[in-house]
Amino acid sequence: MVENELRQAPATSRNREPILAVLARTLPDSGLLLEIASGTGEHAAFMMPRLPETWRWQPTDADPGAFANIDGHARLSLCPRILPAIMLNVRDTTWPIARADAILCCNMIHIAPWEAAEGLFAGAARVLSTGAKLILYGPFKRNRLHTAPSNESFDANLKARDRDWGVRCLDTEALPLAEKNGFDLEEIVIMPANNLTVIFHRR
Ligand SMILES: C[S@@+](CC[C@H](N)C(=O)[O-])C[C@H]1O[C@@H](n2cnc3c(N)ncnc32)[C@H](O)[C@@H]1O
Repeated sequence: MVENELRQAPATSRNREPILAVLARTLPDSGLLLEIASGTGEHAAFMMPRLPETWRWQPTDADPGAFANIDGHARLSLCPRILPAIMLNVRDTTWPIARADAILCCNMIHIAPWEAAEGLFAGAARVLSTGAKLILYGPFKRNRLHTAPSNESFDANLKARDRDWGVRCLDTEALPLAEKNGFDLEEIVIMPANNLTVIFHRR
């Protein structure tokens, strides 16, 4: 894909620095980071060159149409530690990666049916060892309430696009799902633009 034809998500340029800051202080010394739902691939291209050289980044997406774009951004970053994108649909009961040292999933569980969140936690439980982190980024409701009017209208917009999509509730949906799949909540980080980073680790 020609460089100037690469697709970009406007939000990525705003959230990549704060997400990187969380990764930089919470990831262990080395390993393979499995990114779920890489989308444009911009997070990998921005963050991996800025993380320790002892890390490798595996981008994935359920949409094979995204791969050329993800790989294009990776090439542009000149970072050889970003691996070629591969197909991973979280809802599949077998994932193409048997082991990872951390999982990052940004902006997926609200733009997919709830079964995707279920698949994410079930798959992460298969792939991560005890203590390894599952890191989610995106908007969440707290105690069933939106945390900002902008999140409420975003939620309405999502549901208008697909009635199975929608901003998930941290306390009544994500945390029980994590508990059921053997993940403990480690930290909730308040992020810009009414988003959260939620860090779990495998029990
Ligand atoms: C809004 S984009 C987020 C992309 C990127 N993580 C970001 O924050 O910019 C949502 C992504 O989730 C992916 N996705 C949707 N359902 C999925 C599934 N079942 N398994 C894996 N990825 C999925 C879509 O293909 C899309 O690339």
